[in-house]
Amino acid sequence: MVPRSFRQHLLARKEQLIGYLHRFQGQKIMVVGDLTLDEFVTGGAERISREAPVLILRHEETRQVPGGGANAIYNLARLGGEVLAVGIIGNDDQGQVLKHIFQEAGIDTRGIVVDPSRPTVTKTRISGHSRQSVTQQIVRIDRKSDQSPSPEIEQQLAHFIRDHRAEVAVLVCSDYSEGVLMPRVIAEALQHPLTVVDAQQNLDRFAGASIFTPNIPEVERAVGYPISDNLAQAAQDLLQITQAQQVLITRGEEGMSLFTHNDAFHIPAFNRTEVFDVTGAGDTVVAALSLTLAVGGSYVEGAILGNLAASIVVRQFGTSTTNPIVMEEALLQLLEEDK
Ligand SMILES: Nc1ncnc2c1ncn2[C@@H]1O[C@H](COP(=O)(O)OP(=O)(O)OP(=O)(O)O)[C@@H](O)[C@H]1O
Ligand SMILES: [Mg+2]
Repeated sequence: MVPRSFRQHLLARKEQLIGYLHRFQGQKIMVVGDLTLDEFVTGGAERISREAPVLILRHEETRQVPGGGANAIYNLARLGGEVLAVGIIGNDDQGQVLKHIFQEAGIDTRGIVVDPSRPTVTKTRISGHSRQSVTQQIVRIDRKSDQSPSPEIEQQLAHFIRDHRAEVAVLVCSDYSEGVLMPRVIAEALQHPLTVVDAQQNLDRFAGASIFTPNIPEVERAVGYPISDNLAQAAQDLLQITQAQQVLITRGEEGMSLFTHNDAFHIPAFNRTEVFDVTGAGDTVVAALSLTLAVGGSYVEGAILGNLAASIVVRQFGTSTTNPIVMEEALLQLLEEDK
């Protein structure tokens, strides 16, 4: 369902947008990101333990999926991108699982450095259900290090980026504050002429990147004041802080807004009725935006396709992905529905 006011924007660009989708396949993108493994362990409630007053679950399944920057990478691969993944894993099973998932998806993992001094960032959700209840999360266990990676690791990552950035059309920095985006890593990444930055804090570290994709809380943190009806002012302040030519502010159920120094383009959320789980939608936006830029689309077109991709993944449980065929169908359906 696309609001009537936005329909002409889609109609005018229909052929162009579909043309871009057809060219996503094989586009080379480098992602420098904080790699996370998301684990979902679920079981049925059985009884109360005799060793402590705790619930015993009977294990049913363990699901492991890419999270954080790894979700951005996985989304890119599913959209057809040929991804060069750059990041850090630990010398552990979780790291191997993540690498295996990537390799199965055809992602190039040569830029992933193993750091034996830290665990692979892993977020394990343990959820349970009784016979007639829905599954609910009981506890989450995070594995991570508070230490910064060593200068040697920083240098390895920086050198890999320096040696390979010329091969890619777009370079993405996906910073989940887990330590990969160190100063020399950022410096090498920003040497690429087309850079997309999705970062949670201290956006000024990436000053000069082509485009930033913060959500509202990230914008508020960057500008230092709450946003109500002052989004345009915040966007201008953000452009100042980031020294970027444009910022794409994702606004959850309000859609997203693309700002330049003298212009704003608002895109309403395409799907507000069938929303199931918005986790990771921001990573999907980054992926579709980056591929659109890689095939020569404008920032506005990238934002529209990012919004379209997000409108699909929010209908699915957990972090999820989409592909160009589904996106094309969704676009045609949006235009059909409003006739
Ligand atoms: N409730 C919703 N209804 C419809 N669309 C939504 C909703 N939430 C998110 N979206 C879509 O997803 C896009 C990105 O969402 P959001 O602004 O929440 O990103 P985010 O906070 O960076 O996400 P994350 O960090 O979990 O990946 C939005 O711009 C919009 O297109
Ligand atoms: Mg985000």
